Amino acid sequence: MKATAVAPANIAFIKYWGRRDAKLRLPYNPSISMNLSNCLTTTMVEFSKKFPVDTISEGFNSVRVITHLDRLRKIAKMDEKANVVTKNNFPTSAGIASSASGFAALTVAAAAALRLKLTEKELTELARLGSGSACRSIPDGFVKWEGEYAWSLYPPDYWDLRDIIVIVGNGKKDVSSSHGHERVETSPYFQKRLADVPNRIKRLETALQEKNFKVFGETLEEDCLDMHHVMQTQNPPLYYWNAETVEIMELIKQRTVPAYFTIDAGPNVHIICEGKDEQKITKLFKKNNIIVNKPVRGARII
Ligand code: PMV
Repeated sequence: MKATAVAPANIAFIKYWGRRDAKLRLPYNPSISMNLSNCLTTTMVEFSKKFPVDTISEGFNSVRVITHLDRLRKIAKMDEKANVVTKNNFPTSAGIASSASGFAALTVAAAAALRLKLTEKELTELARLGSGSACRSIPDGFVKWEGEYAWSLYPPDYWDLRDIIVIVGNGKKDVSSSHGHERVETSPYFQKRLADVPNRIKRLETALQEKNFKVFGETLEEDCLDMHHVMQTQNPPLYYWNAETVEIMELIKQRTVPAYFTIDAGPNVHIICEGKDEQKITKLFKKNNIIVNKPVRGARII
């Protein structure tokens, strides 16, 4: 019983930071993201009586993966051990979140290997239990996650956007996002963020619907800064930026190119622009290591 799935990482325009239920990974606020065409995880899962234990490829958090396999085995009422082989097409050390693509690919591959007939909605609910943002890597293109599940707002070809990731990070993060989520209530600005998010979501959804790039960009940049404000005022404070991150933020903020930035729980800068302006951005970062992404489909069996 074997299956292989590929899943994209995703970049959130309205961020998920903080959980109202830590165990069930239920978010305090809805988030909206886009799947990334060039940040892909491919995962093969095989269940067999011949495996005495679960084996997971090196470099992945095997405790979290085994816990996730147990969830799927429980649904399938089956107890065979698994061999899991996972590969990212981007360097794991680059500081690009691989937990979203990783748990999305693992969920879809393991469910197929176990012959579970699950709907897309059910797959997003399961992936969420592995890593919150993973549920957004299952539906296609532009995705919204609210409460227990995620769904596609628009297909990948709806809007020709780019996420140009400028890699400035290397090595492991000091604090994982999992631990960061747990401390969100210690920021005095967190309640303010929660009060502001509903209007910001509305603004972003309208901009997405009207393809109003200026309002879209201003809103996603605002939400990135707001999330990092909360992170930096948590106890203990979380600083994910380094000097190069700030330099790139400054450069984009000058608006000499039609682009906006967003940053996750790491120092890399995601530059969001329209397809027609891709070269204007890539020219600025000729000396950097960059990954150019378009919107793409969600997780699928290959
Ligand atoms: O799913 P997690 O626990 O890796 O959380 C990811 C949170 C951010 O990347 C910082 C924001 C987001 O919505 O993707």
